[in-house]
Amino acid sequence: MSVVVVGSVNLDHVVRAPRIPGPGETILGTDVAEHPGGKGANQAVGAGRSGAETVFVGALGDDAAAARLLSELRGAGVRTRTRTASVPTGTAWITVGDDGENVIIVVPGANASITALTDPEREIVASAKILLMQQEIPESSMVDAARTSQGLVLLNAAPTREVSPDLLVLLDVLIVNEHEAADLNGAPAPAPELITRLLEQVPAVVLTLGAEGSLIAVRGSEPVAIPAHRVRAVDTTGAGDAFCGALAAELDRSDPAGDLLERLTAAARFATSVSALAVQRPGAASGIPTRDEVLKAYPAGQG
Ligand code: RIB
Ligand code: NA
Repeated sequence: MSVVVVGSVNLDHVVRAPRIPGPGETILGTDVAEHPGGKGANQAVGAGRSGAETVFVGALGDDAAAARLLSELRGAGVRTRTRTASVPTGTAWITVGDDGENVIIVVPGANASITALTDPEREIVASAKILLMQQEIPESSMVDAARTSQGLVLLNAAPTREVSPDLLVLLDVLIVNEHEAADLNGAPAPAPELITRLLEQVPAVVLTLGAEGSLIAVRGSEPVAIPAHRVRAVDTTGAGDAFCGALAAELDRSDPAGDLLERLTAAARFATSVSALAVQRPGAASGIPTRDEVLKAYPAGQG
């Protein structure tokens, strides 16, 4: 059993402020911190802390940030297969308001250098039960990975960008929030309509709805609604990543011969608990709980 994440890794520079300023506005912040981040690495940490045997495939610069980020991944039990690029490690510039909401600018750096996979990287992908990807690396390498995979191919279409038909046809599960779903659809629409449209392109969709929970939909079946937990958010950065990583880990744990809707629904219930804990702690990857912490906080795995 295993999860492979092919994706980004960033050093997050986080400013806390009473609120997120508008264009042209100057406000006073309260503190700055550096945290490990990048949607790929965060999701790998999410899968690792959820107990899956996880490998992260990505790229770093030849700099101090790289060593720090690698040690965070390994600390979460994630095996790493990273290349060293001739440009700096990716960075993210994040503002978090007192309500826990955030705005993020990502400077890809080394992440942009992964345009195709190497043979050893392909071998890792081919051996995994679950391939999990996001949209912070070039799409050409994602198509390469999806073609190589022999297991379930999961794409979290974040941050939002166009997804080519070449990649869409290779997906088993698409994980999106309402904004990403609307972008893929070409226009905003009510959740049930977004799901119908997306299911014309991919066999299964997990639509996350923030405080409203999520909808799990598989072609040919009625969507299943999963409620969210009520929590007070301290920092929502990486909440989606915590969810995706945990979802992948739980799918990995489930029987591949089982019904996909049932597997996804059970996995999403667990992942909902993981992200509920993650938003109550600062940082993206650093805030992701272990499986034991989740089962303790939400004994049924769902609360
Ligand atoms: O999803 C949160 C992540 O987005 C941050 O860790 C940041 O690095 C960006 O990739
Ligand atoms: Na957090």
